[in-house]
Parts: sequence; structure tokens; C-alpha cells
Amino acid sequence: MCGIVAACLISEPVLGCLIEGLESLEYRGYDSAGVALSAPGTPRRRERGRVEDLKERIAEDPLPEARAGIAHTRWATHGAPSRPNAHPHRQGPITLVHNGILENHDELREVLAEHGAVFESETDTEVWAALLAFEERKTGSGVKVEAFLEALAAAMGRARGSYALAILHENHPGRVFFARNESPLVLGMGEGGRYLASDVAALLKRTHEFLYLEEGDLGWITAEDHLVVDRDLKARDLRPERVSWDPEAVEKGGYAHFMLKEIEEQAGVLARTLQSAAGAEGDFLPDFRLSDEKLRNIRRVVMIACGTALHAARVGKYLCEEGAGIPAEADYASEFRYRDPMIGPEDLVLAISQSGETADTLGALKVAISKGAVPAAICNVPGSSLCRAVEASILTKCGPEIGVASTKAFTGQLLALHLLTLRLAQARNALPEKEIERRLEILRGGHPAMQTLLSAGAREHVAEVAKKYARKPIFFFLGRGPDYPIALEGALKLKEISYVHAEGYPSGEMKHGPLALVSEDMVVVALAGETGNYAKVLGNLQEVKSRGGHLVVVTTTSRREAIELADDAILVPRTDPLIAPMLHVIPLQYMAYYVALERGCDIDKPRNLAKSVTVE
Ligand code: AGP
Repeated sequence: MCGIVAACLISEPVLGCLIEGLESLEYRGYDSAGVALSAPGTPRRRERGRVEDLKERIAEDPLPEARAGIAHTRWATHGAPSRPNAHPHRQGPITLVHNGILENHDELREVLAEHGAVFESETDTEVWAALLAFEERKTGSGVKVEAFLEALAAAMGRARGSYALAILHENHPGRVFFARNESPLVLGMGEGGRYLASDVAALLKRTHEFLYLEEGDLGWITAEDHLVVDRDLKARDLRPERVSWDPEAVEKGGYAHFMLKEIEEQAGVLARTLQSAAGAEGDFLPDFRLSDEKLRNIRRVVMIACGTALHAARVGKYLCEEGAGIPAEADYASEFRYRDPMIGPEDLVLAISQSGETADTLGALKVAISKGAVPAAICNVPGSSLCRAVEASILTKCGPEIGVASTKAFTGQLLALHLLTLRLAQARNALPEKEIERRLEILRGGHPAMQTLLSAGAREHVAEVAKKYARKPIFFFLGRGPDYPIALEGALKLKEISYVHAEGYPSGEMKHGPLALVSEDMVVVALAGETGNYAKVLGNLQEVKSRGGHLVVVTTTSRREAIELADDAILVPRTDPLIAPMLHVIPLQYMAYYVALERGCDIDKPRNLAKSVTVE
């Protein structure tokens, strides 16, 4: 949820590198920001608000030069956004930044206060600093690095919850200690120095070589060396991994917002993900390492995810049942993990996540694995916690997704679900080989249709419709069948970046209550494309229209009646029903974008949210 970055550089001052890292991590949280440098007195600057505000603060009150330091951009969990609550936090010789939640912070705060700790903030992070200072006094580590690692391991033994920590100690100039449990942390090794960050995007301008730290890892970095040990202080031999993502991929590339850039990258995502589906030797889904036999023994597919990824999972239910003839369900990861789910060795548990770091999704996967389910994942970040927790994965080739509102990852997930369905159908002989090939061709044919929807003309038409209704207080998105989760996704996009109340609903359910809401203030956006059940959808549109609601219909030229009924029609190309839902979401993404633009909202960093929810 927060973003942390640290660096130990060989020759250049570290401040610029830390600020650059914060700017690319800001999508993870933007309530406050701060830096601390490895210099006498461990100087630090912290500010409420964005990285820009921190830069202004530093300009007013400059920092001394240093070659090592730590930095943090915060998504507030404990303690309101304020300068005293901003990281880095300090206790005694320790100054640190933290991403995660210290669940037993109350009891630790009490015990540490009894031993003389004085707290200046309401945060759980300051308790971490006090705990470390306390453990160090107990081990009397002074200037020995190994002794401090012992104190850090001891503190980890007392802490409950998730954490990624970067720590400065005034007796260890030029060195940054670290520890990781559940919250993500990568170690970068570049020509100019060594780095730590919450994700690789923050460091791509500095290095492409990373060590992915695991649960319980701790250690240190200096400008030209590093050490990773486990909780018993035994050295860990991690293999460096190369991340080929292009640093420009995390830049806006001339777009006003990352969200718009990422909407328009979707056709490329479709092509790249499809291409990678057929491995180098033409083997289908090479990373999805589950044998035909294993897939034949599966009796049910249970999909777990959050937010947009869950909407993809809900589409996946329709795909799996229709294409692979296997029962499938999709559930909120945050509900699944705590309800003692009925799941076992005959179930395939499929975790879907763009970031691969969503705490609820990882937690739900752990529960399913503990009950013997066969784990698999659809994910966009290679090396993420989720990718490393499963043997069988399908990587969406979206490149980094920076905008908080997920767009290209969603269509990438839909495509991955199509491919998974075909893999299951192949293993279970649920579809003849010819039909599988035909469907693959339809998926490949989606690219030109998607390009049409991403064209300037299509975009500008949606922008006009969005501006026309941007001030309306309530939106309903309606869809049937696999268009129902698309309606849910359209509503989520709108509410999370324009703060307008929006609901997604099955078209057939309006008459069971929500029709009472229809009024001059309500905009109904209905999906009436080529996904079947048109006659029923038409009836639902008439129900809305006859009660005075504003009706926007996403449809095709063949649906004359729907076009005539609509106050505004948004046309999508006629395609096979198999890929129609994936196309329908694009005008809804644009609609959310242009309503938010019209309302002057912060599109890439909407209030109260963050890109990757790594806490529960
Ligand atoms: C979607 O636009 C939101 N940013 C949010 O619902 C997101 O989909 C959810 O937090 C899951 O994230 P993940 O895909 O990284 O697990």
C-alpha cells in the first residue's frame, strides 16, 4: 500500500535517486512522503501530501549531501496523513520506513513505553523503530553489523503482521538494513550501487537485475555489496533475475494520464499475451505447468480475486463452464479466506491479480493451498509474491500498470481466462481440436476490433457522451450473461476515479427493486451487444426508458431497436460473442476517464485509494 525505496550509491549523491524512486512509486500511496539520509544525525525531511510537496520542503530546508538513504510515500493506515505521522520514523539510533501493518503495535507500544520509549506519532511504524532500538540495546550490538542483524531478527520474532522495512542506523553509515514479511521488497544491483524498493518499477532507470526477497528475509545493502539471510541468520543464495521492462513503460509517454495511456495500450497487450501463449516450441501456455492428467482430475475451478480482477474472474466463470464444461465460481478473496471454504484436492484454485501483491488474494490462496487445492495464478508482475507462490501461472504481458484504475490488466486477464479455458478444454477433451483452433483465431481477430474502439473517433464520441452526463449523481451499468461482470467493472471504474455513485447490475434484476431509482438524475448505461439474450435486454431497456431514465446503450449496428431507444448509442464492432464482453469494457473505461476529467478529479491517483492493496 505504501512505497518504499532505498539506495547506497558508489559516487553520486543519493537524494535525486530517492526522489526519482518515490515519483514512480507514488501510485502506491500519496498521503505523505519523506526521506532520511545516512549522514551524521540521520537528517530527514517529511511532508504531508505528494512527492512534489516534499521536494518543496527540501528546497526550503536543504539536506546535506549523502550517498545512502531511505524514502517513503504513504497510504495512511494507522494515524491520519500528517507530517508527524509521515515516514521515516526515528527512535534512538534507528530511522526507518515501513510498508505493511504491525498488528500487535498497541501491546508493543505499551511495553516499550514502560521501558522509556517516547512516541511522537500515532503510527505503528514508529513502534517498529522503538522495538528495534529496544532489541538492539538488549543485544548491545553497538557497531557490529552481525549483532544488529541479531537484534533485527529478534524484533521480527516479536512483530506480528506484514512488513517491508528499510532501516538506517547512525553507527552504520553507508549501509541500509532491510527485512521483509508479506509486503513486497526487491533488491536491485546496478553499476551505480545497490537499491531496495517496493517494486521494480521504481528502479528500472538504475538496473534490470533484481533479487526478489522472500518471507522472513533480512540483511543489508552497501554501495557495492549486499547480504541476505534468513531468520536464523543463515545466508540465502538468491538467484538474480533480469526484468526486461522498459523504463519508459513507467513514463506517461506524452499522455495526460497513465490511465489513458494504459487504455490505449490494450490492443498491444492482446497481441503480446496471445503471442506468449504459444511458447517458443509452440507449446500452449508454457508457464501453466499442470499436466493434462492433473487438469482432467479437476472437478471445479474456484477463482479468488479482488476488485477489477474479481470482475475478470466472474467473466471467467462463464467462459470455463461454456468452453471447458467444468463448474466454476468466483469469490471475493477477502470473504473466501475467512469463511473456512469447502475446497480440496479436486479443485483448481485460480488467484487473479494484476500486482500479485494483494494481501487478501494472497491470504485466500494460502487458505486454499492449506486445504489441498491445486494452485494456479493469472498475474501481470513477474517475480511477484503471487507468481512465486504457484507452479502454474499465466502472465498477462501488459507491462507495468501505473494508473490506480486497472484497465489493460483487466482485458489481459480476460484474455488469459480465455486461454485457460482452452487449455482446460484441450486436456479434458471438452472441445474438438478444430473448435479450439477456431476460438484461438477469434481471439487473434480481436485485435482489429479493439483498435477500432481505441481510435480517436470512437474515443471522442464516448467523451462527448461522458461530458453530457458528467454531473449526474447516479449511474447504473446493466449487462446480461458475461456482460454482467463487465457492467460491474464499468461501475467500479466510474466510482473509483470520479467519485460518482455507480452500480453494476444484471439487466434482468432492475425490475426487482432498482427500477424505483430511475429518474431524471439517473444515467443507465446498458450493454446490448452481441452476447446473446438480446430480446430480454431490449425489454429491460424499455423498462428504463418508459420511466424517464437517461439511457446510454453500448451496442452494434445490427441492434436497431436498441439504438432507437437510446438517448445516446455507443457502437462497437460486430464480433463473435466470445470476445464481445472484452470489447464492451473499452467504452466504459473511456467513459469513466472523461467523466472524471470533466469533474476535475485526480485520475491516476484517486483519493483514498492506492494501486496495490498489500494490507488487509
Ligand atoms: C481496480 O481498478 C482497482 N484498482 C482495484 O479494485 C484492484 O483491481 C484490486 O485492488 C485488485 O488489485 P490486484 O489486481 O493487483 O490484485
